[in-house]
Amino acid sequence: MNKIEVCLTPELIHQYELPGKIVVAVDIFRATSCMVTGMAYGVKSIHPVATVEECKELGNKGMITAGERGGQKVDGFRIGNSPFEYMQDEFRNQSIAVSTTNGTKTILASTSADQVLIGAFLNIGALTDYLEQTRKDVVVHCAGWKGTVNMEDTLFAGALIEALANTHKTSGDSALIAHQLYESNKHDLLGIAKKSSHAIRLAGFGVDRDIAFCLSESLYSIVPEFQDGCLQTLS
Ligand code: MLT
Repeated sequence: MNKIEVCLTPELIHQYELPGKIVVAVDIFRATSCMVTGMAYGVKSIHPVATVEECKELGNKGMITAGERGGQKVDGFRIGNSPFEYMQDEFRNQSIAVSTTNGTKTILASTSADQVLIGAFLNIGALTDYLEQTRKDVVVHCAGWKGTVNMEDTLFAGALIEALANTHKTSGDSALIAHQLYESNKHDLLGIAKKSSHAIRLAGFGVDRDIAFCLSESLYSIVPEFQDGCLQTLS
């Protein structure tokens, strides 16, 4: 059996040994859900960057700019951070530069791993298949919110643990906590996720439909990988 660990917030990632392992970076509401959706809709590459300025620079070089601060679209960016904004025919074969409050930073803080994959409920089936075949130890790196733990990423970590039960066993109490949380709520993910602080924040911005969409399981069968500064779909 391989191991699966869960890092509940990027503030704790220094406690994890990443070389030799696969990191699954996750920000369910909504960065990694957007990335999976964009790649599934035919975007050529997505470039996660830490700052608004870097994103605008890539925009000046022809990329579509995307992202948010505090959950709301950044002034001057072409789109915000809703998965529905990534479903545009004109984005096919285009490159998107994206900067978000937590999600893009989580991806960038994972790069000492052997491989960094992008996880969401939207691609959990394809991700599970890939990890079962690859047989390496996994660290689920949850984006959380500004250094704190969040409900939705922890639920996803628990769902992935459950899905990988035949090949990976949990290591560490955060993995046990995530699995227990998912086990107790798997029949009503929306019910528990709606109570989360970010769902409440997003509902205040009138984007409740994003919350339900981001909890949809296995709508897409692609797995984006972060390599050399951008996401590309694993072939
Ligand atoms: C983030 O990276 O913090 C987000 O995905 C926030 C959001 O837009 O919901």
